Amino acid sequence: MSLPHLFAPLVLRSITLPNRIAVSPMCQYSSEDGFASDWHFVHLASRAVGGAGLVFTEATAVTPEGRISPQDLGIWSDKHIDRLQHITDFLHSQGSCAGIQVGHAGRKGSMSKPWEGTRLIPPSEGGWDKLAAPSAIPFSAEYGKPTGLDRDGIAAIQKAFVAAAHRALAAGFDVIEIHAAHGYLLHQFLSPLSNTRTDEYGGSFENRVRLVVEVTKAVRAVWPGHLPVFVRISATDWLESFTGEKPEGTEAGWTIDQSVALSALLRDCGVDLVDCSSGGNVANAKIPVGPGYQTAFAARIRREAGIATGAVGMITQSAQADCIIRTQQADLVLLARELLRDPYWPLRAARELKVPTPWPVQYSRAADAHAPARDRIVAK
Ligand SMILES: Cc1cc2nc3c(=O)[nH]c(=O)nc-3n(C[C@H](O)[C@H](O)[C@H](O)COP(=O)(O)O)c2cc1C
Repeated sequence: MSLPHLFAPLVLRSITLPNRIAVSPMCQYSSEDGFASDWHFVHLASRAVGGAGLVFTEATAVTPEGRISPQDLGIWSDKHIDRLQHITDFLHSQGSCAGIQVGHAGRKGSMSKPWEGTRLIPPSEGGWDKLAAPSAIPFSAEYGKPTGLDRDGIAAIQKAFVAAAHRALAAGFDVIEIHAAHGYLLHQFLSPLSNTRTDEYGGSFENRVRLVVEVTKAVRAVWPGHLPVFVRISATDWLESFTGEKPEGTEAGWTIDQSVALSALLRDCGVDLVDCSSGGNVANAKIPVGPGYQTAFAARIRREAGIATGAVGMITQSAQADCIIRTQQADLVLLARELLRDPYWPLRAARELKVPTPWPVQYSRAADAHAPARDRIVAK
């Protein structure tokens, strides 16, 4: 059996990603009432033209109050399906698989677009003042004060994730990713820093992971058995050191050890891949950002929880990405900002790694000009 590499296909249930490169979910703040716009079409379609094996939408809100900003993409209504389907049809026409990330912002909702600063948007400007959270603890001074969800509120959130999954399927997505990272609602339940509940959704590890596990089970139950489910987690709140040591006098928050334990539970719920990000739940965390700074989390979770993982975070070089796959630190790499800089990064990486890879037939004359003879293109 040949070893995996960046351009080896990845089989997940009945789908085959043509390579191990995914477009990481990226908010575009370009929707009205949650609808995908021309911008979303061009943004996602061009990354499929660029050769990414899997193209994820941005965090797509399961309820209007689940948006981060009023301009977020949403999937709380059947009316959202058509425009999303237009996008998935095109992604498929390019040989890419289509992924949707579904999420709920919780206490980090109703905020401005990032290029307009960090500002709470009031209802008079299209925001909302009922922010859901496990406990009434704001993220930071700039954010709104949330209300702790009661049992009915928790049940309604679960139902919203399930309804979103039904709609995502109708829109033609192959992969659904549950967003439980970056300090949004599901991560807020996981971390003892944002979850101080005393009922069965707070306190012990088993209680804090309960909502993520319940949402995952409920989504898995309606997402067809032949299609994969991913969960994105923040592997740590970064209040421990990289080695897992907790600085004296601090609370550790959510940690990599807990992420390993959660990933094993998710594996048993039928999750196919854990997408290993980090941070976002604590405003003052010190994050050692640098090339591949989160890859070790993907490697450890893969090894210790026995589940496929995705590595993300400052993966920018073809050799770096290929090494992550070859050394089996992860099964997939997700790129965000590098794919904003260069939507054709996968085609460039293939050339750098000297892997013949198909170009869109419309662009084949450009590929011919630079590719050595053995790199001759095969039209998709
Ligand atoms: C413009 C932008 C929007 C983002 N929106 C999301 C999002 O919707 N969901 C998510 O999980 N991560 C989001 N992220 C984080 C990225 O998916 C990724 O995890 C992060 O940028 C690190 O990868 P990179 O170093 O390749 O950019 C966003 C990042 C950027 C730059």
